[in-house]
Amino acid sequence: MSTASGMYLLLVVLFSIVNGNLARGVNGGVDCASCTIVVGVIEHLSILYNETIVTSLERFCNYLPSDIKTYCKVAVDYLGPIIVEGFLKNETPDIICHSITLCRDDPGQPECRLFSSKSLSNLSHSQRGANLRQRYPWLPSLLTSKACDLPGIKEICKIFEEVFNNHMPLVDIDGDRFGTEESFRGSAWRGKDCDDFSSKIRPGARSVMGDYAIDHNCNGIYGMDSSTNKPWEEEFCNDTQRLGIAVLGDSVSAHFHIPEQWLDARQLSVGVFEHLVYIIGNELDWPQLSGTTGHINNTWPNIEGSTRSLFARLFELDHCNHRDYQNIAVNGANSKSILDIAKTLTRDQQNDVPLLVIYSLVGNDVCNGHNDTIAHMTTYEEMYNRTLTGLAYLDTVLPIGSHVLTTGLANGSILYDLLHDRVHPLGRVGPPITYSKVYSYLECLEISPCNGWLSSNDTLRAFTSERAVNLSIAVHDATNTYSPKNFDSGYLDFPFDQAIQEWISQGGEPWQLIESVDGFHISQYGHAITSDVIWSWLQSNKPHWLPPANPHNADIERVFKDQGGY
Ligand SMILES: *[C@@H]1O[C@H](CO)[C@@H](O)[C@H](O)[C@H]1NC(C)=O
Ligand SMILES: *[C@@H]1O[C@H](CO)[C@@H](O)[C@H](O)[C@H]1NC(C)=O
Ligand SMILES: *[C@@H]1O[C@H](CO)[C@@H](O)[C@H](O)[C@H]1NC(C)=O
Ligand SMILES: *[C@@H]1O[C@H](CO)[C@@H](O)[C@H](O)[C@H]1NC(C)=O
Ligand SMILES: *[C@@H]1O[C@H](CO)[C@@H](O)[C@H](O)[C@H]1NC(C)=O
Ligand SMILES: *[C@@H]1O[C@H](CO)[C@@H](O)[C@H](O)[C@H]1NC(C)=O
Ligand SMILES: *[C@@H]1O[C@H](CO)[C@@H](O)[C@H](O)[C@H]1NC(C)=O
Ligand SMILES: *[C@@H]1O[C@H](CO)[C@@H](O)[C@H](O)[C@H]1NC(C)=O
Ligand SMILES: *[C@@H]1O[C@H](CO)[C@@H](O)[C@H](O)[C@H]1NC(C)=O
Repeated sequence: MSTASGMYLLLVVLFSIVNGNLARGVNGGVDCASCTIVVGVIEHLSILYNETIVTSLERFCNYLPSDIKTYCKVAVDYLGPIIVEGFLKNETPDIICHSITLCRDDPGQPECRLFSSKSLSNLSHSQRGANLRQRYPWLPSLLTSKACDLPGIKEICKIFEEVFNNHMPLVDIDGDRFGTEESFRGSAWRGKDCDDFSSKIRPGARSVMGDYAIDHNCNGIYGMDSSTNKPWEEEFCNDTQRLGIAVLGDSVSAHFHIPEQWLDARQLSVGVFEHLVYIIGNELDWPQLSGTTGHINNTWPNIEGSTRSLFARLFELDHCNHRDYQNIAVNGANSKSILDIAKTLTRDQQNDVPLLVIYSLVGNDVCNGHNDTIAHMTTYEEMYNRTLTGLAYLDTVLPIGSHVLTTGLANGSILYDLLHDRVHPLGRVGPPITYSKVYSYLECLEISPCNGWLSSNDTLRAFTSERAVNLSIAVHDATNTYSPKNFDSGYLDFPFDQAIQEWISQGGEPWQLIESVDGFHISQYGHAITSDVIWSWLQSNKPHWLPPANPHNADIERVFKDQGGY
């Protein structure tokens, strides 16, 4: 019976990593939300295709990649009958998930409900769930065992946990923190390693003897020009000012994105789940498309909009910077946790080229899912001290000539203003579900990414914005106070308001800049346009930070084509 937990494991892992936090919330928390959403999508499929729930369950499993499909079908064998019976009795996905015990009514907690109910029953959710469960007495024992305790699944959980907790590449033979695989903190996050057996060979290194034989910095430029008998790297890169880029940040910098196609029955297909394992292996983040370290144009059906990034522009200026990027951003990171996370940044102060570091914590110091959310917000003093500590640490790892740009927090007031009465992707089939409904559901389960801003309480939203302004001032003050030895620094208010103005002037609608599923993060369009705004700020305010254009870029393209790609 235990293999039924495979599907369950997947969903738990998926939703558990949403805010970098395992086993959070009340009334079943993330388990309850994941169950309710999946069962809701199944119902939508049956409405959309005018088919039975049994057929929709099968349809849903068939959309999944083959290895996961097997687990899905086993799960359906066990859970299908109670789900079918639930819908026959006109119960909602909320009640059905109570019946399979993934949702609970914890003592003293209000009931949480996502889908509206036609039933006039005055029984509690738990009682209705228990009534439905009567014919399936073995269900609770099936689901009380934690998926990650099961043999076989245990090992998978361990791998996930290690990568998710340490933020280092899963495959990294030489231990230089640059890998050859893409996901699991590999080359989607940090430039691809061109030799995983030597820790001296990696992106960001200085070339050694013109890289006449070995590409020490992995920028794809190496070997000898036989017509001049000089190394190519000397000819093309000697006179340029190499500059890599790194970002220290949270889920916004990591580019958190849950594809809306996964939740919208009209858009479900085999294609939208094709890269499921890769996407989960990247913690639902898309650093490869982000506004700081983005380096490819997406061709998957899971995301809309092109990639424009600070890294791509540094590469455009000087192709010698190829692959020199590090995205050291973690979902849920705040001013405290970033101090540990920063230690996974890799730079050799003596032997590597300078780095432009973006230090950007835009929300988690005021955002949390606790019901007493204000008590869990960072204070000015804490923010100020931690920023100083972070800058002092960077001074011990950055090569001389580096630059650090700190940013303030985003103004999250805009989220509720823009979205609260719009329809969420989950409500496009069946009765409409607004963002404010989804926000309060997540708040009820205490798994909201931000109670302060995603709240219908105007006073609370205004307080959260005011604290965010205060914390931005703390970052600004610390940046101005600290006297670095190895870099120079600057501060920038997180320019989302300018990004919105710019987007409107291009004919866009502001809500398009927000992630449609979570109603909280910045979308692909938002990343591209924020990166435009930051780049032009750098050009106007820190022109001496930006290296001059390399006159040999065309030669590099001619000789080395795509420089080994990404
Ligand atoms: C749905 O299917 C049933 C029988 O399978 C049929 O009677 C009904 O007309 C269909 N409804 C729609 C809207 O197609
Ligand atoms: C539920 O409603 C029925 C009548 O509809 C009433 O008899 C019963 O007392 C109610 N139960 C509770 C717990 O309120
Ligand atoms: C590149 O710089 C190195 C060290 O400064 C120098 O020895 C070499 O001659 C230069 N090569 C070219 C082609 O300018
Ligand atoms: C990405 O796509 C956009 C829009 O189609 C295009 O303008 C841009 O050149 C592409 N960039 C790369 C790196 O392929
Ligand atoms: C927060 O939750 C606790 C129990 O977890 C409850 O006792 C308390 O009343 C709640 N506070 C608010 C403000 O809702
Ligand atoms: C901030 O740092 C100063 C000096 O290290 C210390 O005296 C103060 O207590 C710290 N404040 C907080 C809130 O951590
Ligand atoms: C934040 O945005 C709201 C609009 O959503 C605006 O009223 C407010 O002035 C902004 N606050 C700051 C500090 O920019
Ligand atoms: C709104 O939030 C404020 C600040 O947290 C709180 O004092 C107030 O009681 C809340 N109002 C409601 C109606 O919950
Ligand atoms: C922001 O800082 C000001 C000045 O220090 C203070 O009066 C105010 O209470 C702070 N607001 C919040 C929400 O922390």
